[in-house]
Amino acid sequence: MREILFRDYVASDLDALMRLWNQVTAAGAEPVYSLSEVVASCEQDVAVAAVDAHGEVVGMAVARAAHDQGWIVFFATDADHRRQGIGDRLLAAVEQRLAPQGLTRISVLVPDDQLNVGVLTRAGFKDKKHLSYFEREIPVRGKEMTLLRELGGRILSRDLWGNIAGMIEEKNLLERRLVLPLANASMAESFGVEPPRAIVLFGPPGTGKTTFAKAIASRLEWPFVEVFPSRLAATPEGLAGGLRLIFEEIAELDHAVVFIDEVEEIASQRGGEPPSSTQGVTNELLKLIPAFREKPGKLLICATNFIRALDDAFLRHGRFDYVIPIGLPDEDARRAIWTKFIPDTATTIDVDTLVERSEGFSPADIEFSARQASQTAFEKAILGGENLGPDMTDYLDAIGATKTTVSTEVADAFRHDIENLART
Ligand SMILES: Nc1ncnc2c1ncn2[C@@H]1O[C@H](COP(=O)(O)OP(=O)(O)OP(=O)(O)O)[C@@H](O)[C@H]1O
Ligand SMILES: [Mg+2]
Repeated sequence: MREILFRDYVASDLDALMRLWNQVTAAGAEPVYSLSEVVASCEQDVAVAAVDAHGEVVGMAVARAAHDQGWIVFFATDADHRRQGIGDRLLAAVEQRLAPQGLTRISVLVPDDQLNVGVLTRAGFKDKKHLSYFEREIPVRGKEMTLLRELGGRILSRDLWGNIAGMIEEKNLLERRLVLPLANASMAESFGVEPPRAIVLFGPPGTGKTTFAKAIASRLEWPFVEVFPSRLAATPEGLAGGLRLIFEEIAELDHAVVFIDEVEEIASQRGGEPPSSTQGVTNELLKLIPAFREKPGKLLICATNFIRALDDAFLRHGRFDYVIPIGLPDEDARRAIWTKFIPDTATTIDVDTLVERSEGFSPADIEFSARQASQTAFEKAILGGENLGPDMTDYLDAIGATKTTVSTEVADAFRHDIENLART
């Protein structure tokens, strides 16, 4: 056998690594660690090259340590140099270099269909047959995080969608029209479905528009970027210029749910003499939306309490795919929201009665009443020594004392807006 030398990886071995990597992948194997991971480990962790008498790299093994466990992230011998015992010696060389780190175990993940594992068993590795490999892609990473931070964007917790109590109709609608086509974009396209790029949520105050916008981001696992017109107004570029700049930055993100709350403030009816101060801003936004629509992977959500105040051109077809009402909660939704806020210490509560008495309440109103009842009972317990949880009287008193946010007139106007302006 020709003499083989085992030495540490050097930067000029990169070509050889690529050659070995291509051999492995051409043979149909799907490596667990990506090439960039392997290269990073070559530079920062432990990597050994097997070199023949001509100085050619004929095998390579790369490993990293994670606490007391070592992982082999790449392991290959050149196709022309198999069965020469190079693999065995490569493994031994890697193990030796990992030794100073005091590892208790070295592991290697091998695809199911890779048959040639003799080298591992010979080296004392045991096949853990009962294990399966699971993997989840983290949707936003690395460089994008920096940009996201600059934009004040956030990755929201993954349970927001599930936490929206009730509102089944709205949830179904949003799930079908938005989430399904966006989360399965290529399949949607094959059916001729154009994934939505921009929507408006409208409805009376406190009905959950902001909550839904965040929940959609959480459901899609896309970052949430809120644009605050009031903050942009204070920038040197002014509101219109600031808006343009922030949309340019957002365009660099792979994915994002972009949220503009109270959009009527910057997209109100134009016209009038003298022209209102926001006219230029409305024009700017009208120009930005078509450009925003051209790039996939992003969704603009605008929310408003006052949809009639929006400029007609703003709502026209072609800018927003859907104009969706978020209304007051129905009975089921109210029951779910009550249940969410009634603590375990309240054991004597007839939720159906609360649901009935809180007709016309928004989710925010229910939350307010429930907190009020809890506060009253808490004060009674601490100050009066009656250590009982909130009871029906606490709740009914709190309901009676709550001024609903949505008056009958507002509710009527909302119904009217649904007829005239909603597009679902
Ligand atoms: N379906 C729901 N289940 C539980 N809580 C909810 C639900 N919808 C809204 N809430 C709660 O009600 C409150 C008001 O909701 P949110 O701020 O989303 O309403 P909004 O429509 O954006 O209001 P505004 O028009 O004032 O901006 C929040 O505390 C939110 O957590
Ligand atoms: Mg809101």
